[in-house]
Amino acid sequence: SDLYCVFGHPIHHSRSPALHAAFAAQTGEAVHYEARDPGPDGFLTGWQAFVEAGGQGANVTVPFKEAAWRLADQLSDRAARAGAANTLKLMPDGTVLGDNTDGVGLVRDLIRLGARLDGGRVLILGAGGAVRGVLGPLLDEMPREVVIANRTPDKARLLSEAFGRSDASAVTGGHFDEVTGNFDVIINGTSASLAGALPALPGVRLTPDTLAYDMMYGAAPTVFMDWAAREGARCEDGLGMLVEQAAESFMTWRGVHPDTGPVREAIRQALT
Ligand code: ATR
Repeated sequence: SDLYCVFGHPIHHSRSPALHAAFAAQTGEAVHYEARDPGPDGFLTGWQAFVEAGGQGANVTVPFKEAAWRLADQLSDRAARAGAANTLKLMPDGTVLGDNTDGVGLVRDLIRLGARLDGGRVLILGAGGAVRGVLGPLLDEMPREVVIANRTPDKARLLSEAFGRSDASAVTGGHFDEVTGNFDVIINGTSASLAGALPALPGVRLTPDTLAYDMMYGAAPTVFMDWAAREGARCEDGLGMLVEQAAESFMTWRGVHPDTGPVREAIRQALT
């Protein structure tokens, strides 16, 4: 079978080996997928050793997505826009393709959940690598407006300028305090919930028609989801995004798109 892996530091909590084992079983593809932690500074040598061992492709997670983007000899459009690669593929001529499936993974999951993206108002919390990675595919869905809000407002403004388009969505950036009104979708892309912290959004009103989506996931609802539920919104965590980005990486490597529904349900059961 062909060798694939996920690179990260740390990596022991990664669900990717279980996801790709399920995809391989479902599709009959001869894929062996493992987790590799090359240490904090070891990504380049880790990738080289992996290729020498016969590795065909890899997922890349924190903190190596930018290094993977630089390593790639060629980039998909979505990876070029994201400034980061979560998927590497060894091509037949020995060059390395960098792809990014995070944004399309998020969009697929939002569409599955019935979110209004086309013509909708979307609020994104955070302005780090995770948010930068998904903005392009989100804007492809033609929302009327995208507001990026961040603790450090200048980072949100810079990101909104980098992704703003005069012909389609209005993209603006600022501090949490500056955001007002109703949104069809609110996406938490900050790492704040890892610390149990929650940005205050004094000007935002949530309704039962608001989908509050945390890019994080876990066995229990995140603090962001607890807050959104108290405010009356519909809440979802990012497990579906994880499964969709993995399926899209599998497609990049193998040319086969797995059926994500049963795999998502199985991973959900294993979390609780
Ligand atoms: P990632 O790759 O997860 O995006 P990152 O690039 O370090 O990581 O970005 C982390 C994001 O979470 C940033 O938007 C950060 O806000 P700042 O730009 O102000 O640092 C946000 N964040 C982290 N901890 C936070 C907290 N306690 N409250 C609010 N935002 C937080």
